[in-house]
Order: sequence, then structure tokens, then C-alpha cells
Amino acid sequence: MTTPHPATTAGADLDAIRAVALTCTECGLATGRTHVVFGVGDPAADLMFVGEGPGQNEDEQGEPFVGRAGKLLTQLIEGIGLTRADVYIANVVKCRPPNNRDPLPEEIAACSPWLDRQLDLIRPKVIVTLGNFATKLLLDTKTGITKLRGQEFAFTRAGIDAVLVPTLHPSAVLRSGGVALAQARADFGVAKRALPGPR
Ligand code: URA
Repeated sequence: MTTPHPATTAGADLDAIRAVALTCTECGLATGRTHVVFGVGDPAADLMFVGEGPGQNEDEQGEPFVGRAGKLLTQLIEGIGLTRADVYIANVVKCRPPNNRDPLPEEIAACSPWLDRQLDLIRPKVIVTLGNFATKLLLDTKTGITKLRGQEFAFTRAGIDAVLVPTLHPSAVLRSGGVALAQARADFGVAKRALPGPR
């Protein structure tokens, strides 16, 4: 008999789930981490961002997107008239891959039940996937981010009826500069317009 993933039995709210996630040993990334980087922001947010995985700064501080890429993400969020406190920010994998290597398929598979619980409880109206890993996971596609970015996709699963907007990962924007930054800003505009309510 297989043991259920701890995310499936972890409790009924984000705080309870976070408490269990902080003890997770479902994959090898557990051995190298300083902190589990579960997620941050408004648990009732309409807008949710999903990145790839923690880097060094995030591993040290236990919070997603606090390094250089995080500063850019914060600017892009503020550029559409919101703050980090208005949104929810999470990652595909909650522990730092060594030397910032890509997360492995088995690490993503072992970690995604945590993201599933976050999505189920937050029930965002708009999901912005940051880069290839989040986009491929949540859209279940092999198509690359440069082809998908800035478009609106339906993201529907039990209890969630959201618009998913893929955009470039902020680290890629930092590497590529001008055009990529303009594209990211445009994609954030798409996400903002997909949000409910007056703007
Ligand atoms: N890159 C990510 O994908 N996530 C973070 O939290 C930080 C950098």
C-alpha cells in the first residue's frame, strides 16, 4: 500500500498545510534546504503567481522571490497597481535545487501536491505562471514559454475557474533586458485586465 502524500491529509487551511509542508521529506531536495519556501501573500487573493523554485536568497529567508528576480517581480506587480500583499506567490518546488539547477521531473511530481492544495484553497481568478516550469506543469504542455506568453488560457479544475497567463520568468527578463521587460509588462497588463472588478 502506498502512503498518501502529506499534502493530501495536511489540514483545511493554508497555515495548517504550511506547517506540515515545513517538515516535508518527499524528495531529495529536503536534505539540502535551509528553509521550505511554501508561499506568501493573501490567502484569498484573486491573482496568484507561480514561479519555479527557491534560489539562494529564498532558501535563506524562507520567502519566495526576495532576490534580484524577486525585486523585478515586485516592480511588475506594482506596475499594475497592486502590492505583494494583494497577491499570492508560490513556486512549483518549495525547496532549493542545489546550485540553482532545474528541478527534476521527480522533484516536481513529489512537490506538486502542495501547489495543488494552495490552488484549491486560494482559488485564484487569475494565475500568472512565471517561466517554463510553472507553465508546463499547470497547462500540461510541452510548448515553450516564448510561444505561450501573454495569452489567456482557461484553467479549470474542481472548484477553480481561472484564467492562466504565462509570462517570462523574471530571471530570464533580467538576463535578456529591454524587449523581454516590455513583454513581461505587457503580460502583466493582460493578467490585470483578466481580473474581476473595476479597474
Ligand atoms: N525564482 C523562482 O522561480 N522562485 C523564487 O522564489 C525565486 C527565484
